[in-house]
This record gives sequence, structure tokens and C-alpha cells, in this order.
Amino acid sequence: MKRLGLFLVLSIFLSSCSGSKTRDIQDFTQNWKFYLGDTIDALNPKFDDSNWRSLNLPHDWSIEGEFAEHNPATPGGGALPGGIGWYRKTFLIDKSSQGKRIYIDFDGVYRNSEVWINGVSVGKRPYGYISFRYDLTPYIKFGGKNVVSVRVDNSKQPNSRWYSGSGIYRNVWLTITNPIHVDLWGTFVTTPKVSKDAAQIAIQTTVRNTTSKIQAVEVKQFLVNKNGRNVTETLDSLIVGSDSAAVISQNLSVKNPNLWDIENPYMYKIVTKLYVNGKQVDEYETPIGIRSFTFDVNKGFILNGKHVKINGVCNHHDLGALGAAVNTRAIERQLEILKEMGCNAIRCSHNPPAPELLNLCDKMGFIVMDEAFDMWAKSKTTYDYSSDFPQWYERDLTDMILRDRNHPSVFIWSIGNEIVEQWSEAIEVNVRLTDRLVHIVKAKDQTRPVTAACSETGAQNPLLKSGAFDLIGFNYHHNEIPGIKKRFPTKPFLLSESVSSLQTRGFYLMPSDSINIWPETWDKTLSSLNQQCSAYDNCHAPWGSTHEETWKMVKAHDNVCGQFIWTGFDYLGEPTPYSWPSRSSFFGIVDMAGFPKDIYYMYQSEWTTKDVLHIFPHWNWNPGQVVDVWAYYNNADEVELYLNGKSLGKKSKIGDALHVWWRVPFVPGTLKAVSRKNGKEVLTREIKTTGSAACIRLTADRPKINADGKDLSFITVEVLDKDGNVVPNANQMVYFSITGECNIVGTDNGNQNDHASLKLPERHLFNGKCLVILQSTKKSGKAVLKATIDGLSDQVIKIKTR
Ligand code: GAL
Repeated sequence: MKRLGLFLVLSIFLSSCSGSKTRDIQDFTQNWKFYLGDTIDALNPKFDDSNWRSLNLPHDWSIEGEFAEHNPATPGGGALPGGIGWYRKTFLIDKSSQGKRIYIDFDGVYRNSEVWINGVSVGKRPYGYISFRYDLTPYIKFGGKNVVSVRVDNSKQPNSRWYSGSGIYRNVWLTITNPIHVDLWGTFVTTPKVSKDAAQIAIQTTVRNTTSKIQAVEVKQFLVNKNGRNVTETLDSLIVGSDSAAVISQNLSVKNPNLWDIENPYMYKIVTKLYVNGKQVDEYETPIGIRSFTFDVNKGFILNGKHVKINGVCNHHDLGALGAAVNTRAIERQLEILKEMGCNAIRCSHNPPAPELLNLCDKMGFIVMDEAFDMWAKSKTTYDYSSDFPQWYERDLTDMILRDRNHPSVFIWSIGNEIVEQWSEAIEVNVRLTDRLVHIVKAKDQTRPVTAACSETGAQNPLLKSGAFDLIGFNYHHNEIPGIKKRFPTKPFLLSESVSSLQTRGFYLMPSDSINIWPETWDKTLSSLNQQCSAYDNCHAPWGSTHEETWKMVKAHDNVCGQFIWTGFDYLGEPTPYSWPSRSSFFGIVDMAGFPKDIYYMYQSEWTTKDVLHIFPHWNWNPGQVVDVWAYYNNADEVELYLNGKSLGKKSKIGDALHVWWRVPFVPGTLKAVSRKNGKEVLTREIKTTGSAACIRLTADRPKINADGKDLSFITVEVLDKDGNVVPNANQMVYFSITGECNIVGTDNGNQNDHASLKLPERHLFNGKCLVILQSTKKSGKAVLKATIDGLSDQVIKIKTR
């Protein structure tokens, strides 16, 4: 009996495995060869690459280099090396695949890539942020070895105003289909009618026929819910000419749909099945969300009938110490940190993001502004995309829309950031160019508004003059908000970029020293500040404003759909207003290592409903020094501050104030804040004067990770005094070593001026913290990380991989 049971289970398993797999999407990132340098012979399939380095993608060679002032990227580009690199991969294609189509799909290669298959060039793609596909089929050896070679040229720099990374820094897929299949990005799913009771789903499918015969194809669409259950389906047929593609439109309706929103981002999927002569030839999945939205001139952004303020941040694509190399967990961690702050929106500045970011935004409930370009034909840096723009913009913009238009998280298309043409005197030419770009977007998607992030707000700006935008996006200029409705009576408005305030995590200058020091007095203060920006919210770029000032303005105006703060995370490059020795930005609400700066809690107190009480700075000062103590809080009427048990008074936020503060002559001991509502305690926070470091503390964000060679554990390192208090200004060097099933893939501390390679297994604590990033191998087991600081006992932490 037992045996029969096993047989049944086995045969079901085997039949489902060997069943008609009509589309095979292979992770094509493993076992590549890499060479840093130029060697044109490497396109030859017979080339011997046995001496090249073996690695897995995604890979960013720049992050492995050394920071240096004279690297051609300049500190603005992150001060890391660029260059030319080659990648090769040898792979087998089974004889049984004869007759199938073999495609290689790159999510992004920075930049100027050329790809060869078995010695034949299949194409070049200059733009470093765009996804692209090549059809390898005509050149494949079925039943034999094949070689794909990729040359990546990021030698001409500067070509970016921030850190770009270099190489095949996103994922690569090998997609094997039948000759008749759903085309690349071949579905477009919209929800023209949505209510709580019912939704209509419209599906357009592009079916590609690579055979030399006309084909009749049956197209079946299923709406599948989160539990994998088919909710509804439909079947239609179409004729596709030989060697061409045809589009079919179908509709589904669903009762009582689970709506996608930022609190409950419910995802369905559309499963598309193609049949020819009754035989299934393809199965293609499109994850979707059902939601309705409008951008309203008076009421701002409305999602599923409810007003939602877009509380967003701009981010660049780097993942701190991992550089540009895409890692799903690293992106997810960034989004988790932002979500915890109450952030609900991401602007992909200033380029199409990795698909993983959008997948996560779909899943986690973020509103995305998807942006195509940082420049059009006029350059911002010497060797940037502007020279490729005339030839490539139509293709790149179209591909971005095709790739991203099914993501429920994407709500806004942006055709550019602070495009230099906004100041052009060739008004008519650039009005036409703006029209043209908007038209390209609309040709592929009319369900979302198109905007551009304009820092030139004057009426002569040809982008605005075109009248082509559905949504007006200003960068900065928050003081123009009160007059916006009058100026654009029929167009909704968004602060597409705001703030640009500067802070260094854990660094405090007393306000008396740190009135806004930009820009005249900047040089003077440089050396004395050691190029660090105070965590009090009082220093911002001349084009920007403080966090508090900006949020007050956005909050007070319902017609403002929201804002995207510059930036969520510090990023490599653009240490504006500094240059070397700084090599990364000061703009983040969170530092590059992922540690929140104090301002994070101002947003948390405003953007979430959870109880917040955050006081700063630390309490290690010189006796007699006058220290300003700030508190961000919510859900309470007042905060009372005590020093060594003695009350320093109760304070409440008056009017639109976003914090309370006390000026306190420093006395060592315990600073305690208590927030109260109706006299009842809500939260208490204590900060103590600490002694010197007595031990190391290691804290993992996740002590168990997947043994898939990709997953990460982020470990925070701090030192504690003998009473267990975190020492806030510790700066010791920490050395790391690891055994077992993880590798150290990066270290960081958020210090914008730290020149030690981010790949080194050692890092100085910076204002009391540093981070080490571990990545699993493919074996399950455990890893033991050891941290060593001179004069202290070693500390270890165990991470399980499974
Ligand atoms: C903006 C620009 C951003 C960044 C920022 C720094 O004007 O759009 O890319 O440079 O300034 O403040």
C-alpha cells in the first residue's frame, strides 16, 4: 500500500516535470568569465578564457576598485575606476531545443555594450539603464557548445552625475520559446473599470510567429489570484502572418476584486496560454494589480477613491557597498527601511530601474515614478548619453514603457530630469521634442500621466510651454506652491524633487555654529567641519530647503499630489557641495550603510500612525557645553525632558512645528524624554553618557538566509560600554573574518569621506556604527562571522543558511 502511494506521488511529480514546458526562462547569471581590459579576440568562440576570472552576475567591476581623486569618473561619479571589460559564457543548448527560439535578455549593462554569439555580433546598446533582448537562434549550435561574449565600455568618463557602476550589473536570462510565442514584454494589461464590486480587465497580447507560415493561434487568458486559483478566463483566436507579430485584445471581468493599494498591495496574475492546432505552445505570466487612480487638480492623488499624499523619495540605483550590482534582498532592505519611515513612493532617478525594484514595489506597496533620462541631446557631463540620444531615444523610451507598463506600482512616467533643453532658446524645436517624447509614451500607455522633473519653472521653459504634460512636476521651488493652481488651473501638480538637505549620520554641530552654511561660508567651514553636515535640519542646497520647511508646505496644500525628497538613501557620487576627499552624497535621509539619520524620525512621526519619540543628539559632550536637544514625536500632547531626574520642562509642538527642543548645558548622566497624551505616558526614551568601549555587539537583520548564493545578511557592528550603552562616537577599526557558508561581500559605515575599498573585510566604526554584508553560498549550513577590535574581546555571530 505504502509503495503504491509512493509510486503515485512520483508519477504525478514526473508527469508535471516532464509535461510540456513551453517557455523556459533560465537564470543566465552563473559561471561567467571576466577580464578587465580590452581584448577584441575574445569575441572569437575559440578564444581561450581559462585564465580569466570566474564569477557570477550581476557584477560591477567599479565597486571592486579603489577610490581615487583622479579616477576619470571624478568624485561626482563616485571616484571609482571605469574602463573596458569583457564577459564570456560558454553554454550548451540541447539538441532537443532544435526548432525553438533562443533569446538572451539583459536587464541592464553599463554601458556601451556589444554582444556576440559564436563570433557573430548581434547588437550594440549604448544606454546603460535599459533592458534589451537579442535573438540568438540563427547562430546557435544545437546539441553543442555556444559562446556569448560581451564587451562593456565605460572608459569614457565622466558620463554620469552620480555613480553608475560598470559591467553586466543587472540580471541576464536565457529565454527559450516555441516558434510561436508571446513577444518580449508582449502583454499590456489595464483595468479600465474598477470598483469594490467589480473590475474590468483589458488584455492586449502581442503574439509573435517566427515560422514561415500563417498561423491560427488560440489565446486563452486566466486571471489567477494570490492563492493560485483561476478566478476567470477567456478564449479567443487570431491569425498571425508568417514572420511577424499580431495583437489580440481580450477582456475579463471579476467580481469583488481585491484592490491593490499601498497598505494591501494585492497581486493577481494574468496567465496567457497560446495554442496552435489544439496544442499548447506558450505560457506567459503577467503579474498585475487592480486599482483605480486619478491625479486631481484640487485634491491631489486619489487611489481607489481615497486621497493619498505621495510621501516619496528619489533614489539612485546603487546599493551602497554592493555598488550597482543588483541584489533583490539589498533592494528589499532599502524599501523596508523606507516603508518603516512611512515612505510610500519611489522616484527612479533618473533612469529606468532594475526590474527587481518594480517587482518589490508591486509587492510591498510603493507608488513609483519611472523616469527615462537625465539628459536629452544636451549633455550634463562630457561623455554622457546625450550623444546617443538622437539615435536611441525613441527605442529606449519605448522599451522602458513596454517593459514597465504592467506594474501596478508604476503611476507616473517621467521623460526626463532637469533636462538642459529647459533653458534652451530654441523654444520651438524643444517644444516639438517634448511633444514627441510624450507622444512616444502615450503610444504605448495612456493610463498614466506623463511629466518631467523641471527645475526651470519659468513659462519660457519649452518643456512646460509644450503643454504636453498631464502632470506638472517641479524640482524644488516649494515657495511657488501657493500660486500653482492659478498658474496651471487644469493640471495636477507634484514636487518631483525636493529638499536637498545635507546631513551626516550621528554628527552634530550646535545650531549656533551651523546656521545654513551654504554656500558662501562653505569653504571656510570645510576644514573645521571635516566635511560633515550636522544632523540638525538646517543645512540645504541653495536650490533646496530644509526637510521640515518643505514638508510643511506640501502638507498644507491638498492640491500638491506629494513630493519626492532628494534622497532616501545616500548614494555614491555627487558629494555636492564638496568634492574630494568626499566621494558620496550627504542628501540621504538614510546613510549609505542603511542607518537612518535623525530626520528619518521626523518623517516617521508625520507619515506613520505608530507611536514615535526620538531624541537627539547623543549625550557625550564636554561639561558646560551648551547642547540643543531635539525631539520628534507624535500621538502625544507634550514631551517632558529630564536630566538626571530633574525636569527641564514640558514642550508641545505649537502651530505647524514638527519638533520640540531644549537648550541644555551639558552635565554627564541620563537624559530622559517622556511623551504623554492626556497626562498618560506614551513613550519614554533615555540617552546616557557612556564610558569607553568594553565589548562589541553584532546584530544581524536576518540570522537565517537562503542558501542560494544570492541572499544577504546585513550585520550592524557597535561597541558598548561596561554598562551596555552604545558608545555613540566610537571610531575603532573593526576587522572581520568568516568561516562556513557565507562570504563577506561589502563593508560600510556611512562616512562619505572613507576611502577604504567597500569590499575590504575591515571598516572603521563611524559615529558608533559600521555594517558588514554577508552573502550565502549555495550550501546550507552555517557561517560564523568574527569581529575583532584592538583591545577588546572578539565577538562572533552565527548565520544559518538553508
Ligand atoms: C537636482 C538634481 C539631482 C541632484 C540634486 C542635488 O537638481 O535633479 O539629480 O543633482 O539636484 O541637490
